[in-house]
Amino acid sequence: MRTSVAIIGAGPAGLLLGHLLRAEGIACVVVERQTRARVESRIRAGVLETVTTDLLRRLGLAERLDAEGLIESGFNLANDEALIRVDVTKLTGRHVTVYGQTEVTRDLIAAAPSRDLDIVFEASEVALHDVDGDAPFVTYAKDGALQRIDADFIAGCDGFHGPSRKAIPAARVREFERVYPFGWLGILADVPPCHDELIYANGAKGFALASMRSPTRSRYYIQVPTTERVEDWPATRLWDELEARFAPLAQRAVVRGDPLEISIAPLRSYVFETMRHGRLFLAGDAAHIVPPTGAKGLNLAASDIAYLSTALIAHYARGDETLLTGYEAKALARIWKAERFSWYLTKLMHRFPEDGAFERRMQIAELDYVAQSAAMQTVIAENYVGLPL
Ligand code: APR
Ligand code: PHB
Repeated sequence: MRTSVAIIGAGPAGLLLGHLLRAEGIACVVVERQTRARVESRIRAGVLETVTTDLLRRLGLAERLDAEGLIESGFNLANDEALIRVDVTKLTGRHVTVYGQTEVTRDLIAAAPSRDLDIVFEASEVALHDVDGDAPFVTYAKDGALQRIDADFIAGCDGFHGPSRKAIPAARVREFERVYPFGWLGILADVPPCHDELIYANGAKGFALASMRSPTRSRYYIQVPTTERVEDWPATRLWDELEARFAPLAQRAVVRGDPLEISIAPLRSYVFETMRHGRLFLAGDAAHIVPPTGAKGLNLAASDIAYLSTALIAHYARGDETLLTGYEAKALARIWKAERFSWYLTKLMHRFPEDGAFERRMQIAELDYVAQSAAMQTVIAENYVGLPL
């Protein structure tokens, strides 16, 4: 088959790009390795910047978001037993919306047929070809047959473990990485949240986060050593830990319940700066990873797609190549600022094994300063709600 843009990956980046291109009548197809059920069952983060909600609203896909999303005007940092509320709306005039990435993905997939967006699920052996030529193409296997998609462009939206980065010659690659010496153990349960807003806590036993998906569904995390396994954490042990962390801080008790999901995720900061090679463009986790402390992962994917979709639309609508040429630099400018904020908040709110008493004093001093400085809170608030495109 032939199309204009072949999109690899049906995560938030690939799905948003597909919908934005189809809305302008640009032919595209999304090729996804997993089953639809697997994609729709992934439990990911849940804080949306207006960059992301604006795209969904522009697509006319914000109905459930508006009905079920929780508008949050602030969030909380906690140092041991003192809450510091960052009033993002007072400080920036903006807000964030709590709405699970799982729900965003489901909304985008559900709307695909009615908007003539073709998503090929269960595509295996996906490979990119001739990306630095004028006739790139993607091959994949499905139902025992090898398929080929000839395209003008390929969008690598295949996440951190996808094939797109590997299609770029090593000599062209510029990448940066920091792996953190801990992970996040997360639990999702149908219990009411302990606080009306998110609480990021730096306590004696490390970082903990109280988040939510709705008034009846909570999401919690605690920092764990990278050696920990989910089997080491029966739900009761985790609820005991969360109760100990948030009892002194939260408005309400931590309510226990059977986990819908318990998992451990590693933390890394990663940027693959070569976001364009020939007719291949990378977007989302395929090009960058942030530690989830700043809630930037999905929102960075959305801003990449805002830039890339605008550039592709300009190319097809009026033969304007300037935005495609400028895509990598423009995306990286926002990516690196989000990487900085996520790294800053991770350093501020976690206990690093290699840190000593001095480093702990630095954290205490920083949080004391945040508590008393509207300027510092404004810096944090601006980054948390998302910098302008
Ligand atoms: N062939 C086809 N699809 C693939 C392949 C492959 N070889 N490898 C990976 N994929 C698919 C994955 O199955 C996934 O559905 O690419 C998609 C990538 O989606 P995400 O990993 O969600 O990345 P992205 O769309 O950039 O969204 C970033 O998702 O995982 C979170 O924390 C992340 O919030 C961030 C957001
Ligand atoms: C979540 O609710 O999953 C969540 C919220 C904020 C973060 C990370 C994860 O920074």
